[in-house]
Amino acid sequence: MVHILKNLPKNSLSGRIEAAMVRAVALSGSSQAPEKLLSALQYATFPGGARIRPTILTSVAMACADDQPELTDAAAAALELIHCASLVHDDLPCFDNADVRRGKPTVHRGYSEPLAILTGDSLIVLAFEALSSVPSADPARSMKLVQILAHQTGMPNGICAGQGWESEEKIDLSAYHRSKTGALFVAATQMGAVAAGQDAEQWYELGARIGEAFQVADDLRDVMFSEEELGKPAGQDILHERPNAVSELGLDGAQSRLKDILAGAISSIPSCPGEAQLAQMVTLQAKKIMPDVKTRSEV
Ligand code: IPE
Ligand code: IPE
Ligand code: MG
Ligand code: MG
Repeated sequence: MVHILKNLPKNSLSGRIEAAMVRAVALSGSSQAPEKLLSALQYATFPGGARIRPTILTSVAMACADDQPELTDAAAAALELIHCASLVHDDLPCFDNADVRRGKPTVHRGYSEPLAILTGDSLIVLAFEALSSVPSADPARSMKLVQILAHQTGMPNGICAGQGWESEEKIDLSAYHRSKTGALFVAATQMGAVAAGQDAEQWYELGARIGEAFQVADDLRDVMFSEEELGKPAGQDILHERPNAVSELGLDGAQSRLKDILAGAISSIPSCPGEAQLAQMVTLQAKKIMPDVKTRSEV
């Protein structure tokens, strides 16, 4: 895994996040560990995808002075581990039955279903282990971070609840999106603030708005792009008859909704020492998630 760090500029934000991920995943490694499960766990975490959640978390902490960087790093890695776990489980035959993730076979395809279930389980537990294993951390901050991550992962508001909506006869669309996708973005902004000693509450709105924008962008990409471009199956919303912003608002409508939400996100950044840089980061992430409709005129 160390070779991953060689290709990244030292001191860059992405280099910092990958280093934190390598340290966290290393907690599960041992010569006594079952080899296939350990290999599947590393396969599910490296190379990563966009790492957008830990990027937001670390950027918020830096905007709030980041006085306990080791705690920020552990929080960023823990959040990304939960996200990786959610993807492994989401791809299983009993959920979305997907063959490809991040441009390579999904964990159950590359290994096996039992190993994919255990990989997801192990990653969830590893997230909390990494988060609570920072000896230098302020204990009150660590405890609050554990609470936020648990709240945004489980029931009734977290990603488990989000996935659970798919088993209901009638889906509450906003609860579905808020918990399936929004929850980990709220965790990102709130955990970044708490790692740096700030109050979580005022950071809720920014996370919720970025999460909402991300969901609309993902809906657009699902309709506009191919499996090769996405690195995961396309057209999934139509296939699984799931609600999608494009089917509700049309391509132009969804695109302009995305712009509105992102503008609202930037204006909801709480005042903090690094407010201007944080606004720049949100703008940069917004550009990255905004699908370019003009180049996809065949849609
Ligand atoms: C995919 O998330 C799952 C959704 C919530 C839509 P990402 O698009 O952030 O996945 P990676 O980590 O970059 O692969
Ligand atoms: C995944 O949602 C959300 C979670 C894993 C919590 P989707 O099923 O819509 O996302 P993709 O398209 O597989 O990335
Ligand atoms: Mg799914
Ligand atoms: Mg899926």
